[in-house]
Amino acid sequence: MSHINIRQLTFEDLRYADALRQAEGWNQTHRDWERLLTHQPEGCFLAEWNGESAGVVTTTIHGGELGWIGMMLVHPIFRRRGIATALIERCLNYLEQQQVQCIKLDATPAGTPVYECLGFRTEWSWQRRARLSDLTPEIKTSGRETMPEYPWDHEVFGANRDIWLARVVRDSRVICLEDGFAMLRQGARAGYLGPIVALNAETAEHMIRQLLTGQQGDFLWDLPAQNQHGIELAELFGFEVVRDLNRMWTGNRLIAGIPEYQYGYSDPGTG
Ligand SMILES: CC(C)(COP(=O)(O)OP(=O)(O)OC[C@H]1O[C@@H](n2cnc3c(N)ncnc32)[C@H](O)[C@@H]1OP(=O)(O)O)[C@@H](O)C(=O)NCCC(=O)NCCS
Repeated sequence: MSHINIRQLTFEDLRYADALRQAEGWNQTHRDWERLLTHQPEGCFLAEWNGESAGVVTTTIHGGELGWIGMMLVHPIFRRRGIATALIERCLNYLEQQQVQCIKLDATPAGTPVYECLGFRTEWSWQRRARLSDLTPEIKTSGRETMPEYPWDHEVFGANRDIWLARVVRDSRVICLEDGFAMLRQGARAGYLGPIVALNAETAEHMIRQLLTGQQGDFLWDLPAQNQHGIELAELFGFEVVRDLNRMWTGNRLIAGIPEYQYGYSDPGTG
């Protein structure tokens, strides 16, 4: 008999979810959880082992066709019992029901073997970079409620994520130019630089400089390893590699974006 029960994650569960996140040292905030659950209220799940909360996961759908799995966390005492596998299977089921064509995730070294067992393949590798000074910054938002339209972002990211960006923008310090946009927002232990999309390196550099000027403290930045200009900018602004990670995918077809224009993720849980 199976001990695992998977049910929908609710706003009441977010304290538990955030405690798992905190124990792992991840940088998301309660606000990040709320945004995820608001965006996909029927696509975030909690696993129970004999009735006790044991793990969580989120999905995020962009433009109806690209689905993301994120925030996969299983409490250490419940690991290696198939809970992550059961949570991902539920996510895959949900995303297939929603007729998503391509499912992606950003895998930690701990997550990679779990996803490989379920048929995920690596699309590219990416880097988590950090600039550390032992201080958690306090980042003020720009107070922006709306996001300009960037039709070219659909091609760069691979799908229309306008609704998602409009949610992130409200919690971020934002620069919006004609050929790029960049954001910086509060994290639990460091400022999070991203999403950043730019059609050329000069625009990316200009936006990042503006966002970081006058800011003190720790910052994290995630970007595709093959964005050579992005890597050079990360070096220029003093961000060092913390670890190498994998973007993985499964589904009917690979929906590829243009990593050379992606200078920063919006979150490892959402691409
Ligand atoms: C990664 C994580 C979610 C796995 O959860 P889990 O419930 O233990 O995973 P499962 O029991 O479903 O494991 C399925 C299979 O994945 C592989 N696997 C899981 N954990 C592994 C590990 N630490 N080392 C090697 N293989 C592992 C095994 O093949 C395992 O099957 P087995 O136990 O029959 O050998 C959990 O370790 C965790 O929360 N880690 C910290 C947060 C994290 O890194 N999340 C992933 C983000 S991408």
